[in-house]
Amino acid sequence: MDKKRTIVVTAALPYANGDIHIGHLLEYLQTDFWVRFQKMRGHDCVFVCADDTHGTPIMIRAKKEGITPEELIARTHAIHLKDFTDFEIAFDNYYSTNSPENKAFSEEFFAAMQKAGAITGRVAPQLYCEHCKMFLPDRYVKGTCPKCHAEHQYGDSCDKCGSTYAAEELGAPYCTQCGAAPVVKDAEQLYFELEPFHRFLQDWIPQHTASDIANKMLEWFGEPLRGWCISRAAPYFGFAIPGYKDRYFYVWVDAPIGYLASLKNWCSKNGRDFNDYWQNPAAERYHFIGKDIARFHCQFWPAMLHAAGYEKPTGVFVHGFLTVNGEKMAKTKGTFVNARTYLQYLPAWAMRYYYSCKLTPTAEDMDLNLDDFAQRVNADLVGKITNLASRGAQMLNKNLGGRLGTIDEEGRALVELARSRAGRIAELYEERKFAQISAEVTKIADAANQYFDAKTPWKTIKDEALHEATRTVLTVILNVFRIMAIYLKPILPEYAKKAARLFGEDDWTWSSLEKDFENVSINQYEYLATRIDQKQIDAMIAASKEKPAETGEVAHESRASKNKEKKIAQTPPAKDIVAFEDFEKLDLRVGTVIACETVEKSAKLLKFTIDAGALGVKTIFSGIRQAYPDAQELVGKQVLFIANLAPRKMSVGVSEGMILYAGEPGKDGGVLSPLAPVPPATPAT
Ligand code: 2FM
Ligand code: ZN
Repeated sequence: MDKKRTIVVTAALPYANGDIHIGHLLEYLQTDFWVRFQKMRGHDCVFVCADDTHGTPIMIRAKKEGITPEELIARTHAIHLKDFTDFEIAFDNYYSTNSPENKAFSEEFFAAMQKAGAITGRVAPQLYCEHCKMFLPDRYVKGTCPKCHAEHQYGDSCDKCGSTYAAEELGAPYCTQCGAAPVVKDAEQLYFELEPFHRFLQDWIPQHTASDIANKMLEWFGEPLRGWCISRAAPYFGFAIPGYKDRYFYVWVDAPIGYLASLKNWCSKNGRDFNDYWQNPAAERYHFIGKDIARFHCQFWPAMLHAAGYEKPTGVFVHGFLTVNGEKMAKTKGTFVNARTYLQYLPAWAMRYYYSCKLTPTAEDMDLNLDDFAQRVNADLVGKITNLASRGAQMLNKNLGGRLGTIDEEGRALVELARSRAGRIAELYEERKFAQISAEVTKIADAANQYFDAKTPWKTIKDEALHEATRTVLTVILNVFRIMAIYLKPILPEYAKKAARLFGEDDWTWSSLEKDFENVSINQYEYLATRIDQKQIDAMIAASKEKPAETGEVAHESRASKNKEKKIAQTPPAKDIVAFEDFEKLDLRVGTVIACETVEKSAKLLKFTIDAGALGVKTIFSGIRQAYPDAQELVGKQVLFIANLAPRKMSVGVSEGMILYAGEPGKDGGVLSPLAPVPPATPAT
């Protein structure tokens, strides 16, 4: 065993305004696998995390719910922690960025950054929404990308071309909260100047993260680094910046500092010295993060640590996103699954196992293929691995008094083959090559199953003369199973705990691999894992499916807050804002009115027959009779209409579209669409 290491591990802090979903779990699970492995090896490994509690979205959401931000974050903290615990994710400390430790650290960092001359004040134009009465954070404004002209891009970066810019550079900006066009107002903000850290970062980055990420991060380094705006104007839920009125630390300042705060809090609770962990050059510090937040962790954060005289991370491990069935998770498809929803239908261990089969140490996206999920869990974990234990143990208990025998020469070869993979599997854990670990274990299971099938213990057990030979076979099988379960313990901790109990053991460490179990009794077999059913998956997807009317867009600062409860997703009221993707679906056409007649028994409706050109002739019922007492005057006019609206059955017939109007029919006489300036020519509203 190598010498005892001191290791601090973090996973990104989830926002306190959203639920944990299966995309988040990609990160928390792999981090948990890695940490559990380190602990099993006997290292002093501390896994800290916290809720990321500050920022505008949290403030706005609390306000909407009529509670204080503190109440909101307390509630979310409990929910998040329960989700994590039920997924067997074991943090040593799950804290909050809204903590006294974090406030003290943030102030200390700021003072040090000031002292290093890296903080400057700049008056800069900023977008302000007169309607919402606030300066708009980057993710609260959308508009046209200044570089590639893609529409509806956020205020900080373009999804289409990947360029980053200031929100004021967007074309045709609008507030994502209310849709209003913001105005530009001058505001003084504080910047953390990165250029003084240019050389330091340029050296540091390639040594502490994978080369693809490092190359991406270094793309900025051909020119002087731009300063990073670290303040936000009131109203803001966060820490006030000492010495600056109405200015708060931007959430991304105190979020990574929250790693230190959580560690410090853990140290105080456990009688440890913070300096032995973070400020100890011999200790190791790793951040597990998603590729969307690499810049915060590879540029801003190390520069902050450097300025403040703190140790930097030993490594930043960057992963990709989760796709489901090859596509982005989507609420409309039911593939945007919350952690809690998953748990209502499926066991945590199944996801832990499946993710382990797919996880690599790269930033490539990882696909959760739902068919493959059931297949891998059922065929490999249940069919190949667990069945060996359930059949072997039950046979031994039922027929042979539950006592193991000895391992014979042939069996020894199999047991040693299983044991011989320990070094390789440990390397794979260390390197986060989880997919290869399950492949290694499956290979052992294949060999064990071959042996089991060749020995046919279910037959030999019936012949008393063969009982001792059968006992030998079952002893071999159960020893091999035990080795596999030890290998899988970081991935399947609860499973491993129960498997250990079968052998009367408390808990396994990596050195438990060295032991053989011979001539001792085993315990009763406890359920470890049983097949999952396609129906459970279908039901989970159905439960996650959001009706189209509920898919409204609201502002978010990053991936985590994209996951909002339906209540929030509906605000602002769905009628106020139409997502561009929805608007784009409309097929707007100009047609000519061939006939227009009143409809019997309806005071409101006119029946239009429209020549829709290539689309043929359409019948559309429209409620504007009061504005046009003489229907005939509309014949020959051009109208703008929606051509692809689903046909609507009305009491008077089927309407095949909708004509668009401007003006207020019945009040000012009504004005047909701008293309048909029927008098009176009131300006369109
Ligand atoms: O992207 C996010 O979900 C952020 N809440 C992550 C913060 S990680 C760390 F820096 F605090
Ligand atoms: Zn607004």
